[in-house]
Amino acid sequence: MTTITVNGSAHEVAVDPTTPLLYWLRDALGLNGAKYGCGLGQCGACTVVVEGEAVMSCVVPVVALDGKHVTTLEGLGTADAPGPLQRAFIDEQAAQCGFCIPGMIMRAEALLARRPDASDAEIRATLQTNLCRCGTHMRILKAVRRGAD
Ligand code: FES
Repeated sequence: MTTITVNGSAHEVAVDPTTPLLYWLRDALGLNGAKYGCGLGQCGACTVVVEGEAVMSCVVPVVALDGKHVTTLEGLGTADAPGPLQRAFIDEQAAQCGFCIPGMIMRAEALLARRPDASDAEIRATLQTNLCRCGTHMRILKAVRRGAD
């Protein structure tokens, strides 16, 4: 039996082992922070953090995560008490449509955890894998900088 710890709680996985992590998080656990964008590992909307690394959850089967720790957007804070990086995205009004924002936050969270003083160039390079079609890139950059303060 595959066991995955999500946001600090261990869960036994009772689905086909090839099920993408994204589907299991959303359908079995009701954690809808990670979004389905392309389903092909190309847009980053589904990004979560696994053992400190940003991962596109649409292309990782649950069986590959046995014994691992996953953090989703919900693990960073709540609507009433957002985490520091979530607060920074709100304060900088980084979202337009908002669909990419959970993935942006999770990839930035992983970056700042290992590089709290990441330069603008590092932030830009890291977030290149996450697409935003609204074009709020400058506000996203400001939010990540603010979240690092
Ligand atoms: Fe996973 Fe696009 S939905 S990368």
